[in-house]
Amino acid sequence: MNRDPDRLKQAAAYEAVKLVRSGMIVGLGHGTTAHHALVRLAQLIRDGGLRDVVGVACSTQVEREARALGIPLTTLDEHPVLDLTIDGADEVDPALNLIKGGGGALLREKIVAQASRREAIVADEGKLSPALGTRCALPVEVVPFGWGAQVRYLESLGAEVALRAGPGGEPFRTDHGNLILDCRFGPLADPHRLARELDGRAGIVAHGLFLGLATDLFVAGPSGVRHRERGCPPVV
Ligand code: A5P
Repeated sequence: MNRDPDRLKQAAAYEAVKLVRSGMIVGLGHGTTAHHALVRLAQLIRDGGLRDVVGVACSTQVEREARALGIPLTTLDEHPVLDLTIDGADEVDPALNLIKGGGGALLREKIVAQASRREAIVADEGKLSPALGTRCALPVEVVPFGWGAQVRYLESLGAEVALRAGPGGEPFRTDHGNLILDCRFGPLADPHRLARELDGRAGIVAHGLFLGLATDLFVAGPSGVRHRERGCPPVV
């Protein structure tokens, strides 16, 4: 029985990489769990187990890591449809809806997820949640112009809002130069409604509610990795 969180993340990621076939265009997710998938993919490409696989990185950091590992990269402009993306999540509900963006890459992650035929989420079972918002704050990416107005708007929707700070205490900046407001809503009774309220607001560039996007979940616990596909009930 393995309980080391990093080994669990690795186990989930390795299972998801089994979905990759030679010739695929693969979205490369951001975060510590998705990183294990990146490393495994690089290993398989190096060993010749996978050929002609190219990746689309979900962040500039993943772009650098993939290059260093020798994974060939392409862009969404060259390949607007991806076969598969493997990415992590901060919270996963029973319907495979997600909160993402703990790593700050939510905008690219959502663009890549929406362009993917299959979105496989890799996580340890600590990410499972009965209702989104129970475990973590919802990241909301806003343009710097008028960001204070977004704080007021988010508070009016019931959130406790915190401006995300970078490592030196300065405001965190995304790959696109935007800010992140971490919004604590508590358990969300209607995430679809909240998503519509956020989608409709100028100045909000992206939010971490990924609803109906995940097709597969690889979740690792002490007794192994379970694979769930959307629409299939959880196996207990
Ligand atoms: C990155 O912006 C996030 O969406 C990550 O996928 C998420 O935070 C999960 O990260 P870990 O795998 O590091 O927990």
